[in-house]
Amino acid sequence: MVRINATSGALTEVPTGLLAVGLHKDESVPQELAGAAGAVLSNGDFSGEEGETALIYGPDGMASPRLLLVGLGERTSFTLDTLRRASATAAKRARTLKLDDAAFALPVSKGSAARVAAAEAAAEGAALGLYRFDRYKTNAGSSRELETFTLVHDDEAEIATGAQIGVKLAAAALLARDLANEPSNSATPEYLAGKAREIAERYGMEITVLDRAEIEAEGMSGLATVGRSAANEPRFIVLEHRKGGDDAPPIVLVGKAVTFDSGGISIKPAAGMEDMKFDMSGGAAVLGVMEAVGSLDLPLNVVTLVPATENLPGGNAFKPGDVLELHSGKTVEIVTTDAEGRLILADALSYARRYEPAAVVDCATLTGACYVALGDHASGLMGNDEGLISEIQTAGEAAGERAWHLPLFKEYTEQIKGNTADLKNSGGRYGGALTAGAFLKEFADYPWAHLDIAGTAYYGKEQNAYTPRGASGAPARLLVEFLRGRSGDDRVVNLAGQEA
Ligand code: BES
Ligand code: MN
Ligand code: ZN
Repeated sequence: MVRINATSGALTEVPTGLLAVGLHKDESVPQELAGAAGAVLSNGDFSGEEGETALIYGPDGMASPRLLLVGLGERTSFTLDTLRRASATAAKRARTLKLDDAAFALPVSKGSAARVAAAEAAAEGAALGLYRFDRYKTNAGSSRELETFTLVHDDEAEIATGAQIGVKLAAAALLARDLANEPSNSATPEYLAGKAREIAERYGMEITVLDRAEIEAEGMSGLATVGRSAANEPRFIVLEHRKGGDDAPPIVLVGKAVTFDSGGISIKPAAGMEDMKFDMSGGAAVLGVMEAVGSLDLPLNVVTLVPATENLPGGNAFKPGDVLELHSGKTVEIVTTDAEGRLILADALSYARRYEPAAVVDCATLTGACYVALGDHASGLMGNDEGLISEIQTAGEAAGERAWHLPLFKEYTEQIKGNTADLKNSGGRYGGALTAGAFLKEFADYPWAHLDIAGTAYYGKEQNAYTPRGASGAPARLLVEFLRGRSGDDRVVNLAGQEA
């Protein structure tokens, strides 16, 4: 990963291959850059529109041979996400130019907390934007990487602090991306367990991994049944970070990890089925979160549960019409074997009861219906606790991983009442994201929120400057932001109106 550091001093003096400077719409450059950038601006070639760039070679009076102007859009709508994108744009341009290093002038001056937050966002943006999943490209070694990205601001100490945190936040998403991009012939349930063991080892966390027999003995028949016909056996991963004191009830995170979802006997159409390697993105995200929880050493108790399995057809596979008794004791009639996520999550949610948790948040690529409802611009957010829901929504806004509250009216629960069992695992086509949420709600008897990330966990093409094609890592950064809030960290999340 790119090394990100901080420096202070005049912009004209920074010794770098490329200096990037953010500019708001219709505003002028800082005085010391007037000579270098004046002509571009006075000719109207750059207006500061968000995403706009202008590259100036041999800028007048500057140590850097290249000056890159990056548009920040309207000052009144300036957010941390504007900065993530601008910084990613700068870092990627430097890489395209095959430079070893680049610098980014941090366009924030008001208030210490705002400066730290801005440095976090700029560091995150650069690290996230430069991400590539190229481990299976046999010539990957020949592509150039940017080595150093330097944030420039008068207050070097604050900026260095922010940069260090930002790198850790990005690392959460980058781990999640790596796990989710990994193809399912490699990223098996046991592979995820191995990654969880590595995190546990790195940060002194407790780890428990249940194998097939232990999953059955625990009574998690949803997970055992979905995984029954796969040669790569299921795992139930429990990773615990205990830094919040003995008495503090933990926050439990649950991530769906179907390492490949063929649909099972209710098999999916062939076209696009390759995307179902991403059906473990929820599990990938919560493991990414634990990486950051460890590296930030958050003073909290956090437990992460990852039910991991493949969903494949086979002679031993579960079938439509089958009835299962899930971990909680509730029975469910299988309408379709393609609604497998809610079965394994139901087991994990009822397993979570033993922790008497302060809150439980699950995330899952759960329904195509959620993707249809919100597109790929927001995760669906449901739950049984208004306070928790609004915390998650706010965290998503700050992290640039938006979540939108959807209803769980009791009528949705009516829609999933079973004929021969307590519940059925599909409520049909209409309101599919909500009936899936209503199903999970039956197993959550604590403050609980659910994120349906079917539309936001991966992208078929670049989504924005810091989110390339493939796994996005969402909602790892949202969840880290939520946990930082729970740990009492008072961060600035709104930069609107900031002085340059
Ligand atoms: N993993 C899928 C949901 C999904 C679909 C994620 C598209 C990302 C993109 C899930 O297991 C599934 O198959 N859900 C079904 C539920 C239905 C059968 C009730 C769906 O959404 O079609
Ligand atoms: Mn499915
Ligand atoms: Zn699935």
